[in-house]
Amino acid sequence: MSQVIAIANQKGGVGKTTVAVNLARALQLAGRKVLLVDSDPQGSARDWYQSSQDRNHDMPVVVGVDRPVLETSIQQLRGAFDTILIDGAAKLQDMTVSAIKAADFVLIPVQPSALDIWAAEDLVELIKARQSVTDGKPGAAFLVSRQIAGTRLANDADSALQALNLPILAARTTQRVAYAECMSTGSTVLDIEADSPAAGEIKAIMLELQTLLMSPPEA
Ligand SMILES: Nc1ncnc2c1ncn2[C@@H]1O[C@H](COP(=O)(O)OP(=O)(O)OP(=O)(O)O)[C@@H](O)[C@H]1O
Ligand SMILES: [Mg+2]
Repeated sequence: MSQVIAIANQKGGVGKTTVAVNLARALQLAGRKVLLVDSDPQGSARDWYQSSQDRNHDMPVVVGVDRPVLETSIQQLRGAFDTILIDGAAKLQDMTVSAIKAADFVLIPVQPSALDIWAAEDLVELIKARQSVTDGKPGAAFLVSRQIAGTRLANDADSALQALNLPILAARTTQRVAYAECMSTGSTVLDIEADSPAAGEIKAIMLELQTLLMSPPEA
């Protein structure tokens, strides 16, 4: 069955596109047919795809849908793909609402500071409002993004995350040069070095997400 995962957070620079392209590639390498939908008019995922074509034509295809019609356009694409990932847009409220409606699951990357986490409160409200009219769809979880390697999540960040009352993935990304490098070169951390710590982070996120997507919504 196809699955639609939106990677959303209206705060800019939290790692949405970085997670989206790397996760898309990990899913593809795991044998799934993957489409990445770039819902951001900035087109960063489309730029990444364009650079990728100079070196690796097997990368997951990226298409742009930057009008708030994701719900209908993705519905029509579902049959052709195992996983459709939506790279969310910063700021644009109507695109975010559209992505939430289209998605089976919303992954919310947050940088590990209480301020950044509280900034996601509006998004959490939007998701919960949607869940209340759809029997719990989409599921949602936080993904800690760009954590400094070797540090623990600060207490205030941890309690801010708990207060928003959504699951938090145990897997996370840490701040690593490899992520920045792959975005500018049209590659992924899995292609730069398949056994690297960054590649391990992305695979762990993929596996945990698959488990969450397979488990039934909480009663
Ligand atoms: N784990 C990481 N380690 C190092 N650099 C990272 C990491 N994640 C993202 N970056 C860098 O941070 C910047 C912002 O990341 P990205 O573009 O993925 O964020 P975004 O949430 O999609 O931003 P926007 O809201 O503008 O679309 C990029 O330069 C990217 O290379
Ligand atoms: Mg982006």
